[in-house]
Amino acid sequence: MLKGLIFDLDGVITDSARFHLAAWNELARQLGIELPPEANDDLRGRSRMDSLAVILNYGGQVGRYSEEELAAFAAQKNAAYTKLIAGMTEADVLPGIHRLLDDAKTSGLTMAIASASRNAPVILNQLRLTDYFTATVDPNDLQHGKPDPEIFVRAQKLLGLQTDEVISFEDASAGVQAIKAAGQYAVGIGDVHVLAAADYNVPDTGALVLSKIKVAFDTQTQTKEEMSHG
Ligand code: BG6
Ligand code: MG
Repeated sequence: MLKGLIFDLDGVITDSARFHLAAWNELARQLGIELPPEANDDLRGRSRMDSLAVILNYGGQVGRYSEEELAAFAAQKNAAYTKLIAGMTEADVLPGIHRLLDDAKTSGLTMAIASASRNAPVILNQLRLTDYFTATVDPNDLQHGKPDPEIFVRAQKLLGLQTDEVISFEDASAGVQAIKAAGQYAVGIGDVHVLAAADYNVPDTGALVLSKIKVAFDTQTQTKEEMSHG
């Protein structure tokens, strides 16, 4: 039975993914790296240092910099990013999200945030959404970034729920992989070809309707139960 929802933040609750990409592109240009369009998908959902590694890989610059230089690049990107998100307000909550959160609350579902971003609590506060969530995973506590399932497993544990009691929402391919590796039901938001591993796909957040997603979730749960009973 469905008891909880777990949300990625960047690109799901709000369009801060474009600010991450803008800040990374600025750093990449400075390093003389021209990122191809497919880098946009590769960078989504990855932790700060994993994202930097992806960029250096695109530029053939892996192994060129010291730990200190890498930390300075990451700090520089974060400084640019925090400037870009500073003006975010409630108006930046993506279409359909307020409705989804309100429907979930009315239905008695508990909710958690599973974002790799250390800036997630600040953004949630600016969006006036903090009170909807009973738990937010602290990425500082994690050993592995998405696509590792750790962050979704942690969020589910913080909610005190089983894998078949939650639905998780992601806009990143690495994130959908992480949800599926955690054994949870995945809703993919964005290009269906990129997010083909999700159980339920929508082109954008405006198409997220809890009652419809729940029907698909219940059908899949029922089919699984029938199969396990032969
Ligand atoms: C994820 C974003 O939510 O957080 C990534 O999708 C980002 O793009 C990652 O790299 C880490 O964010 P931050 O704010 O801690 O650098
Ligand atoms: Mg995301």
